[in-house]
Amino acid sequence: MELFLDTASLTEIRTMWDIGILDGVTTNPSLVAKEGRKFEEIIREICALGVPSVSAEVVATDTDGMLAEGRRLRQIHPSVYVKCPMTPAGLKATKILAREGTRVNMTLVFSANQALLAAKVGAAYVSPFIGRLDDQGQEGMDLVREIVTIYRNYKFPTKILVASIRHPVHVLEAAELGADIATMPFAVMEKLPNHPLTDLGLARFLKDWEKVPK
Ligand code: G3P
Repeated sequence: MELFLDTASLTEIRTMWDIGILDGVTTNPSLVAKEGRKFEEIIREICALGVPSVSAEVVATDTDGMLAEGRRLRQIHPSVYVKCPMTPAGLKATKILAREGTRVNMTLVFSANQALLAAKVGAAYVSPFIGRLDDQGQEGMDLVREIVTIYRNYKFPTKILVASIRHPVHVLEAAELGADIATMPFAVMEKLPNHPLTDLGLARFLKDWEKVPK
């Protein structure tokens, strides 16, 4: 399973990249806005670190606009995946971009039928937003389960990228279901290596080590 950071912060990305547990980065307009820097500059810098998958989102809402933005973003670096929204215009743009060889991440997916359509138009990734469904009182992980079943039924090559992750249990459940990728905020990823028993165990080993004759 691949682990992505859902951020546009170079500081956060560098931290996880240095540890060696980062497989990719997803950004969106809200995350980019937080940085107060130019969008394409941020994407270029993330790619320059060597991150192999960097999702950059279009903001046009019509197909022609999405195509123009997607083609431009794709030119930034071979690691760029173009994010298109799950709308009829986004589906049309995805189909054209995919045929041109651009890898598209279809975003804002909230139903299994939407995911089916994303696969049919050749999206490289489909991004179900789990946390936002949970926020609505709907079990977000049920959607991942449905998509896994549908994609297995038809052997769709589209990768399931579980997005809008809020806590480590979401990562665990996504992995148990066999999702391809989980993208998460820095605050969630930094919790993954931690366990209080690891800390206690290490402290005890180090204390006992002091008794070993040197
Ligand atoms: O980047 C897409 C998705 O992960 C956003 O998550 O936390 O804004 O619902 P969130």
